[in-house]
Amino acid sequence: MSSPDQAGECLISRADLARGIDRIALQMSNDLASSTRPPLLVGVLKGSTLFLADLMRSMHLEVDIDFISISAYSPSGSSSGVVRIVKDLEVDIAGRDVVIVEDIVDTGLTLNYLRRSLAERGPRSLRAVTLLDKVARRIVPVDVEYSAFEIADVFVLGYGLDFQGLYRNVPEILAVKDIAKLANDPMLLVRSLFVEAGA
Ligand code: PRP
Repeated sequence: MSSPDQAGECLISRADLARGIDRIALQMSNDLASSTRPPLLVGVLKGSTLFLADLMRSMHLEVDIDFISISAYSPSGSSSGVVRIVKDLEVDIAGRDVVIVEDIVDTGLTLNYLRRSLAERGPRSLRAVTLLDKVARRIVPVDVEYSAFEIADVFVLGYGLDFQGLYRNVPEILAVKDIAKLANDPMLLVRSLFVEAGA
């Protein structure tokens, strides 16, 4: 997936993803070692699913998980950051050590909303971890305690991140070189990634 004539190329390989995740899993395990109850990792659907699975597998202590899903704000709108919870947590987080798990922090609007919303529920502590951090795109400042990879302002997909619902199960992070080409033919990279590989 690195041929220069293709619309996408590998940005973060499987091996580098594993190394970056192991590094923050160790930091988080150390920081959360004094938790009185297993820390709660809150996966933000749907993009964080692969990251959450590998992160929790790499941690050196017992953890609990739950999921939350929020509606996306309109990218073409006023950037008001108005979002709402469409699937809430099943557990009460009062008194718990909570870590929000994101695949990517971009404008920061989503994480900012989630932090404010979950903080109101009285957790013992509240942190955030992200696989990818596009710092250059930030609209609102937001705390991100753990970040595996800071990336430039490029369109990325794979390892949970999608384009029109596709590419979430690509095992590495791809950078899209020609987004117009992909928009015109959303299956473009699917063919080179899966069809050729399986041929
Ligand atoms: C992505 C990502 C974050 C959010 C980050 O979710 O998972 O939740 O966008 O963007 P922001 O910092 O600009 O708010 P998306 O809406 O694409 O949903 P998905 O995870 O289901 O693909």
